[in-house]
Amino acid sequence: MPDLGFIHRFIPATRPGLPALLLLHGTGGDENDLIPLGERLLPGAALLSARGQVSENGMARFFRRRAQGVFDLDDLKARTLELAEFIARARDAYGLAAPVALGFSNGANIAASLLLTEPAALKAALLLRAMLPFEPQPLPELAGKPVLLLSGANDSMIPAGPRDRLAAVLQAAGADLVHKILPAGHNLTPNDLAIAAPWLEQLT
Ligand code: MLT
Repeated sequence: MPDLGFIHRFIPATRPGLPALLLLHGTGGDENDLIPLGERLLPGAALLSARGQVSENGMARFFRRRAQGVFDLDDLKARTLELAEFIARARDAYGLAAPVALGFSNGANIAASLLLTEPAALKAALLLRAMLPFEPQPLPELAGKPVLLLSGANDSMIPAGPRDRLAAVLQAAGADLVHKILPAGHNLTPNDLAIAAPWLEQLT
């Protein structure tokens, strides 16, 4: 893989006309984790999968945190810009249109940060177990941007307050938001896949 600023994997499309998926793993994952999920949810789409650049006791993440759910906002801002630059370089290198983010947990939180600060970087976003990473001032312009937010009703890592605040902010910014709170915890369930796959297909 060329050095585009992030360790990553790229798998070219095998079905024409689909958006590329930008895969963003959870804490302690890497660029390999979400490849099977991407292949399953949107078969034949190009997959661009990045490894987070922050190490928390050896676990890769996309930005620093001070404690569970307490984010280092300066680091988040800088890392969000770095990720937007990576997307731009990867689009040039691999000939891609703006990708659809598919993020889980910490990866979903940086995808939310991208939507709030660099919305043009993404065509759409599938946010699995996300929360509002910071209060955007002013609200971004997300008119018509498709976002699917899938939350777990019993998620011990994502409190209900910042989860619902993310939905409210995305809606206020004009996103075409679908938010579902599933009978689940932090881990994904068959329900997530059953809702996400047709949502991704209808983006094309
Ligand atoms: C985060 O740190 O982004 C969230 O708390 C989820 C996670 O632990 O990855």
